[in-house]
Amino acid sequence: MIGASSGLGREVARLLLDRGWKLGVAARRLEPLEELRQLAPERIEVQSIDVTAHNAPQALQELIARVGGIDLLFYASGVGSQNMTLEPSIELNTMEVNALGFTRIIGETYRYMASHGGGHIAAISSIAATKGLGPAPAYSATKALQGTYLQALEQQSRMRGLNITFTDLRPGFVATPLLGDNPGYPMLLDAKRVAREMVNAVNRHKHLHVIDWRWRVVTAMWRRVPRWLWRRFTFLKTK
Ligand SMILES: NC(=O)c1ccc[n+]([C@@H]2O[C@H](COP(=O)([O-])OP(=O)(O)OC[C@H]3O[C@@H](n4cnc5c(N)ncnc54)[C@H](OP(=O)(O)O)[C@@H]3O)[C@@H](O)[C@H]2O)c1
Repeated sequence: MIGASSGLGREVARLLLDRGWKLGVAARRLEPLEELRQLAPERIEVQSIDVTAHNAPQALQELIARVGGIDLLFYASGVGSQNMTLEPSIELNTMEVNALGFTRIIGETYRYMASHGGGHIAAISSIAATKGLGPAPAYSATKALQGTYLQALEQQSRMRGLNITFTDLRPGFVATPLLGDNPGYPMLLDAKRVAREMVNAVNRHKHLHVIDWRWRVVTAMWRRVPRWLWRRFTFLKTK
């Protein structure tokens, strides 16, 4: 479980614990991970992993070894901000974490599973993967990357006869530290409820799951909007 120290990742970790899973939990901050460990010390291994660090794959391998293998990778790490002034540090950090960090960890897990009989990779991308969103260019671009990457691996896994399955989870706006205390987001979802729906989707081995039903309708409409009309859209005037 990568990104278990906060928000959606932490809620999913709690649910998996309730359902009897043995967990390896990772993120950069150890303190919240240690708090999680107190819930079931005999069933949780903790590891500090910065997905942008070059030694992240090695740290992941250490965690997998301590847990005794991996059946499910749940990937919840990510950053995101609105960036109407295109502040370079925000754009580049988003690329580092959501694109390079994601590719680093998903790839390491895929190769491990390929040589250990298979497994299941689930990752939280976003409804922002559907279209380029003006207020968050790097965020929507990296979320599209994540969705496309999972789709490609899903096909490659099948071509190679690997027993690896994938779930791309796409929530709408969720009240977590990622959004801060900004009240202006439409159709804001509750983190616990989203976590439950994500775990159910993983259990059912869904390939792609948008959360919730209202966001399924919205993203289906977004997909149909032609480019000439999309560029005229104005939304997320929250700051
Ligand atoms: N909240 C929303 O509205 C929403 C909507 C759709 C999709 N999502 C996606 O859901 C995922 C989880 O977001 P959240 O809303 O739960 O936000 P969050 O509460 O801010 O959690 C983000 C998690 O990512 C980890 N993380 C950030 N940078 C990292 C790094 N360099 N290395 C390792 N871990 C790192 C954080 O842990 P540390 O800081 O301890 O490293 C934390 O556990 C993200 O991918 C986000 O894009 C969120």
